[in-house]
Amino acid sequence: MSEESDLYFGQHPVGQMANLAYLVGSISQRKCLVVDPAWSVDGLLDQAEADGMEVVGALVTHYHQDHVGGSLFGMSIEGVDKLLARKAVPLHVNKHEADGLIQVTGVSKSDLSIHEGGDVVELGGIAVRLLHTPGHTPGSQCFFVEEAGRPGSLVSGDTLFLGSCGRVDLPGSDPEAMYHSLNGVLKRLPDETLLFPGHLYSPESQSTMEEQKRSNPFLRASSLETFLSFMGA
Ligand SMILES: [Fe+2]
Repeated sequence: MSEESDLYFGQHPVGQMANLAYLVGSISQRKCLVVDPAWSVDGLLDQAEADGMEVVGALVTHYHQDHVGGSLFGMSIEGVDKLLARKAVPLHVNKHEADGLIQVTGVSKSDLSIHEGGDVVELGGIAVRLLHTPGHTPGSQCFFVEEAGRPGSLVSGDTLFLGSCGRVDLPGSDPEAMYHSLNGVLKRLPDETLLFPGHLYSPESQSTMEEQKRSNPFLRASSLETFLSFMGA
């Protein structure tokens, strides 16, 4: 296909916990969304600006402090509050995560754009589908970035990592929900989908769903019972 892609996409390592933030948008519209703005909000916004892109919103994978800012292990992590101080943009969050996000970051309900699973945020020729994938937290969401005629990209937060999945032993975690999110939602994505996780916990920073379906043991559990015993739940 000769037509050039409209996709603007950047993966950005941030902070001290191997987090990966993302800038996703439309080149033709010169607009983008920032996924999980934390640790280095100025750095992310400056990058978008240097690329000639206007940040028009934030996509929140889940409310943990290393993804959205807040107090953690005695550290004060900058996040969505700093983003809002620099630019008033909507924070796109799943409806099951809104209260947690408010509690952890101190933002207001009016700052949020509260979503159901399956909602789509569109920018130019780019559609970002918000997939509700509970398990790590009740309102965890993954972002399936689609452009007609091209393989999609999945930004998977702390739900799916390369070779592993997110923890399910934290407050609000649900191992059974994680099984259904992995098997009922993410495993159904096309093999050619590119996978971009929320942490760099592996030598490579991206993979494909085909590779993960083949090699990731957490996607290969043959039943809920097997998965739960695997997770020690
Ligand atoms: Fe997390």
